[in-house]
Amino acid sequence: MSDSHSQRYQFFDQHPEILNFRADILQGLSSPEPYISPKYFYDEAGSRLFEEICNCDEYYPTRTEVSIIRDNIDDIVEILGKDCLLIEPGSGDSYKVRLLLDALRPVAYLPIDISKRYLQDEAKKLAAEFTWLNVHAICADFTGKLELPYHVETTNKVAFFPGSTIGNFVPEQAVKVLEEIKVMVGEAGGVLIGVDLQKDAEILNAAYDDKSGYTAAFNKNLLVRINRELGADFKPDQFRHHAFYNQAEHRIEMHLVSTQDQQVEIDGQVFQFDRDRSILTEYSHKYSVALFQQLADQAGFKVVKTWVDKDRLFSVHYLSS
Ligand code: AVI
Repeated sequence: MSDSHSQRYQFFDQHPEILNFRADILQGLSSPEPYISPKYFYDEAGSRLFEEICNCDEYYPTRTEVSIIRDNIDDIVEILGKDCLLIEPGSGDSYKVRLLLDALRPVAYLPIDISKRYLQDEAKKLAAEFTWLNVHAICADFTGKLELPYHVETTNKVAFFPGSTIGNFVPEQAVKVLEEIKVMVGEAGGVLIGVDLQKDAEILNAAYDDKSGYTAAFNKNLLVRINRELGADFKPDQFRHHAFYNQAEHRIEMHLVSTQDQQVEIDGQVFQFDRDRSILTEYSHKYSVALFQQLADQAGFKVVKTWVDKDRLFSVHYLSS
């Protein structure tokens, strides 16, 4: 790695989940309605599977959001302002931020992700590819307190929160996440955020149960991860992926359903899963533009601009503090 490259790339480890994974899993599976937090999907295998999902025909959000950003890039850059400090909570594969970097020329890009190796790989790739860019990667759980690892003079801090990750929180939590982002970007900052829209259940159900089976593998990978990291003895083949649109709550629900009566041992504790017993693994809430704008308002943000695609599948908003 060249000197200029190593100066431009910095890594800050806020040691996110090590303490919490075991406790969270045991607590979630002991609950009367067992659950596993979707933030645990993203180990290395899960992050790669998520990339595959994003490329599936059925999973429209990624390509639609990308086309909204591409089609409106001049407008977006004008509103965000050049020379901002660009922060991406839950940065993942950093594919979407590439759409912004050349046009926006931020003073630095700060990806925040829970998946350490993946974060480091992606951040180094970006620093090598964008030879003018400062990349300061932060390994942290953005669902907790969001703290930048150093004092930042720049007033124009912009969070980039694409992919409708906000939909993975129930609305009350989503308001809290937005409030945290608002504190992080400060009084003169803002957030560019992608939000999936309500639509026909058929389209939604297909998006969360792709024919190639990537979403099913992504869901079951949670069990593989618990086996590996907590020495559990889940048999992933004895659970089936179940995803459906809950119309009343405007959300996709993903579950792992036990296909037979079985017991699983995790860290010395035995869990009974009767046939058809389900473990909730993810909510993915879908909004109307008006409902999302209300949510932003509750978090104290002002809606500056909203962009949607022609089929009204997906929306991108710029909110200012
Ligand atoms: C990351 N998140 C916004 C995705 C979603 O659509 O809720 C995760 C996902 N789960 C299944 N497919 C994609």
